[in-house]
Amino acid sequence: MDYFKYKNGRLFCEEIDLDRMSGIKTPFYLYSWNTFKEHFLRFKESFKELDPLICFAVKTCNNLAILKGLARLGAGMDIVSGGELFLSSRAGVPADRVVYAGVGKTAEEIELSIDSGIGFFNVESEPEFIRIEKIARGKNKIMNALLRVNPDEYDKNTHDKTTTGKKGGKFGVDLEHVPAFFEAHGKSDYLKLTGIHIHIGSPIYSAEPYTRAITKMIDLIGKLGEKGFTIKYLDIGGGYAADYEDGASPSWDEYSESIAPLLQPIADNGIKIIMEPGRTISANAGILVTSVQYVKKVDQDRNIIITDTGMHHLIRPALYNANHFIWPANPGEAFSVTERRFDPDFDGLMEYDIAGPICESSDYLAKGRKLPPVAPADRLAVFTAGAYGMVMSSQYNAQPRPAEYMVDEDKVTLIRERENYGDLISKQCDRVITLG
Ligand SMILES: Cc1ncc(COP(=O)(O)O)c(C=O)c1O
Repeated sequence: MDYFKYKNGRLFCEEIDLDRMSGIKTPFYLYSWNTFKEHFLRFKESFKELDPLICFAVKTCNNLAILKGLARLGAGMDIVSGGELFLSSRAGVPADRVVYAGVGKTAEEIELSIDSGIGFFNVESEPEFIRIEKIARGKNKIMNALLRVNPDEYDKNTHDKTTTGKKGGKFGVDLEHVPAFFEAHGKSDYLKLTGIHIHIGSPIYSAEPYTRAITKMIDLIGKLGEKGFTIKYLDIGGGYAADYEDGASPSWDEYSESIAPLLQPIADNGIKIIMEPGRTISANAGILVTSVQYVKKVDQDRNIIITDTGMHHLIRPALYNANHFIWPANPGEAFSVTERRFDPDFDGLMEYDIAGPICESSDYLAKGRKLPPVAPADRLAVFTAGAYGMVMSSQYNAQPRPAEYMVDEDKVTLIRERENYGDLISKQCDRVITLG
C-alpha cells in the first residue's frame, strides 16, 4: 500500500495534487510520510509476537527527515558506514539500537562506532573481528558482535548483483567455518560474540529462502550452545520485497506466517530477534518526478521519450534491469490508473522507451512501455523509487542531484535542496600537498 493515487486523472501524494507542485522544477523525489509511517507500523505489527528490534536499513533512503520520523516511531537503524552512523545519530536514534554491517569497516569508522556506543557490530570476516577487538580493547570498551553467517541460501529470483547469501562471497563467514570462528574468538572479553546475523539478498520474493536460512541458523545456535557459546541475538537481516507492480510481493503477514513460528521458540528462550527491513518500508513511499524534454520518433511504432532524469538519479534500471512503473502525473480521466502494471490495459496507449540525458546507452528508465500519448513538458512519475533511489544518485555528466520533498497529509516540506552548479565544484580545489 501507499498514498500515491490517481483521482480524476491526476496524481495525488496523500492530499497533495501534484498539479499544485507544477511550479517546482523537476526532477525531484517526492515522499509520502504517512506511507513510511504505516509501512513501519504494519511491519512491526506483523511480527509483534516476536517483539523484534526493527532496524531500518539506512542505505535505502537516508534523508534525516525520514530517519527522524522513523526514530520517533521506535525504529533502530541498520548502518553500513561511518556516514550512516553520523546520520543515524543526527536523527536521534539511540546508539544501542544501531547495528553496523558492511565488509570494509575502517579503523576510523570502528573507533567512531565504539565511541558512540552502538548496540552491535555485525562482523563480516575474521580480520575485521580482530581489528574491532583490538580497538575495543585499546579503549577498554566492551562491545557486542554478531557474526554474519553466510548460510548459502538465497532466492533464485533475486538479481545476481543483489544476492548476498551465496557461499564464498565477500559477505559474512561461510557456515562450515563458523564453529572454528567461535572456538577462536567466542571468548573475547572486549568483543562479545553474542549473536548471529544473516542477510541473504534483496529482494527476497517469498518466505521460503528465509525459512531455509533460519532453520540452518537455529541448528547452528544449538550446536554452538553445546560447545558453551550462548547466543543472545539472531539478526535475520532485510530483503522483504516491495511492490514494483501491484501485488508483486508477499504481504508482511505472509512473510510473518512462515518466519515467526520458526523463531518463536528461540525468542521464548530469550534470544532477541533483530530485523533490518529497508525497501519494504521505503520503496513505495517515494516517487521520482521528471519532465519530458523530447519525444523522438524512431520509426512507425517506436518513440523514445527523453526526460530530465535518468541513471544519475535512479540507477536501478541501468544497474539491475529493474522495472519501475512509470505514468504521467496528469494523464486525464481516460487514463486514471487504479493499478500499477507494466502492461496496462487502456485503449489509446502508445509504446515508448523512456530514456535519460546521460551519455550512456544504458541510460533508460524503461523500455517498451505502454503509456498515454506523451508530449514535451508533461510530467512523469517514476514509482517505487523511495529505496535505492536518491541514495545512489550521482553528479555524473555534471548533473546536479535533485531535490527531495516530503508530504504529510496536506503539507509539503522541502527536505533536501536541489543541487546547483556551484555544488558541482564546491569540493574542488587547487591546493598543493606537501608529502611527508
Ligand atoms: C546487511 C543488510 N541488511 C539489510 C539490507 C536491506 O535490504 P532491503 O532493502 O532489501 O530490505 C541490506 C541491503 O543490502 C543489507 O545489506
